[in-house]
Amino acid sequence: MKSYFITATDTGVGKTTITAALAVSIKKSGIDVGIMKPVATGVLQKTGFRSSDVSVLHHATKVNDPENEVNPIFMPLPVSPYDASKILDLKFDKKIIFEQFAKLKNKHKMMLVEGIGGILTPLTRDYFVADLIKDLGLETIVVTRSTLGTLNHTMMTIKTCRDYKIPVKGILVNNYDENGGPAEKNAPTTIHEITGVPILGVIPFIRDYENLEEMVSCVEKNVDLKSLIS
Ligand SMILES: Nc1ncnc2c1ncn2[C@@H]1O[C@H](COP(=O)(O)OP(=O)(O)OP(=O)(O)O)[C@@H](O)[C@H]1O
Ligand SMILES: [Mg+2]
Repeated sequence: MKSYFITATDTGVGKTTITAALAVSIKKSGIDVGIMKPVATGVLQKTGFRSSDVSVLHHATKVNDPENEVNPIFMPLPVSPYDASKILDLKFDKKIIFEQFAKLKNKHKMMLVEGIGGILTPLTRDYFVADLIKDLGLETIVVTRSTLGTLNHTMMTIKTCRDYKIPVKGILVNNYDENGGPAEKNAPTTIHEITGVPILGVIPFIRDYENLEEMVSCVEKNVDLKSLIS
């Protein structure tokens, strides 16, 4: 069964929320899904997991894997991994990512791997998220916004995937507001028309979003889960 790398057009677009909801939804259909956030940066959490993303993913899926496998690299500063390693004087050793990924892949039928930032976020000066996807040998799912500006960001992301020869399974348009303006209303159709990439789903903006259960039902209703598990 295929595993996927979930990237996005930018930071804060919904990678963690959607990865967690996809994992829960796919698990419900009886498939053993593992999750990974190979590289995380951000404010060190005071309790539980070091990274808040890892905490969300772990609590949603209730996987039994140790934190150092799910998240081999954590740097406690909310900046890109390259900046964090410069500022904190930390070495970025990517070998550990492939070792831990291999272990997790052996334990689970499917892996969902959350990226960091976008496709060209620098992990080192000359090693980007796109290089990591390529080296992990994964197909990618791109999460996009639906608001004005998303066409440019989505085209750049898809073009980069093509330049790197990374297969793109599809695009998930997140935070869609059906009462939004014309740019937003047209976004899913235009993205598909120009890129030729399948739209796996359009996920509405959930007002006063509070818990993952809401997102899980949204994903179950609006995402073509069958195409991901076939
Ligand atoms: N469809 C939605 N409706 C309402 N809120 C949403 C939706 N999708 C995501 N959010 C909220 O938007 C915020 C950013 O989402 P999320 O953390 O999943 O983004 P991300 O791409 O993982 O960010 P990062 O780059 O920091 O990893 C979160 O507070 C999340 O709960
Ligand atoms: Mg995240």
